[in-house]
Amino acid sequence: MSKLSFRLNYALSLKKGNVFLDVGSDHALLALALEEEGKVYASENKIGPYSTLVNTLKRNGSNVIPLFLDGIKDIPDDIECVYILGMGGRTIEKILKEGEEKLKKIKYLIISPQSDFYLPITFLYNHGFIDEEGTYIFEKHYYPVLRFSHYDKRIVYNDDESKYSISAIKNRDGGLKNLLLTKLALFEKIGEDKENEILELRRLLKLWN
Ligand SMILES: C[S@@+](CC[C@H](N)C(=O)[O-])C[C@H]1O[C@@H](n2cnc3c(N)ncnc32)[C@H](O)[C@@H]1O
Repeated sequence: MSKLSFRLNYALSLKKGNVFLDVGSDHALLALALEEEGKVYASENKIGPYSTLVNTLKRNGSNVIPLFLDGIKDIPDDIECVYILGMGGRTIEKILKEGEEKLKKIKYLIISPQSDFYLPITFLYNHGFIDEEGTYIFEKHYYPVLRFSHYDKRIVYNDDESKYSISAIKNRDGGLKNLLLTKLALFEKIGEDKENEILELRRLLKLWN
């Protein structure tokens, strides 16, 4: 089995519960690593990637249970911890929206959007989930990797938190700081027409002082 990337290894470290689902498992690396921790399902929603997933699991003599499913709306009821990693934020938000009923039964959600972070983050805040742990990781570009669980009070969040997550702002996450510094350097290089973005990033970065 290939070695887990730093991002997948961090996602693995966020695991909670005993029954896991890796949505969009693809290469199955995370699902195979999770197998040591409990019962694992791994899903794909297209026939090609699903066949590859089934063959990868067979080749590794794995007990991971493959599912040919779209998102989370029809997942088995025993799943406690759902991973949705490495997809665009819009796709993750769509999966969450379509699976809204199932969210009540899921205890932990570990997400890692590649783009439009605010979409799944605010969706989860507005549906009674809060991120308890996470960080920003660089793997070709920056991804947040966040674990959410249910929260019994109304979740109040500001614009910075909706963009980057409550835990990353509260913990002054080093990975997020690097992402903001990278964006700032890019906008400063472009120069003209980026004054507002530059001011906004400088304001946010003051939090780390
Ligand atoms: C870029 S790969 C990410 C693989 C792995 N999760 C990772 O983070 O390294 C995204 C995978 O999600 C699958 N996928 C996309 N939408 C899906 C959905 N609605 N349900 C299940 N799988 C989906 C794709 O087929 C693809 O294999």
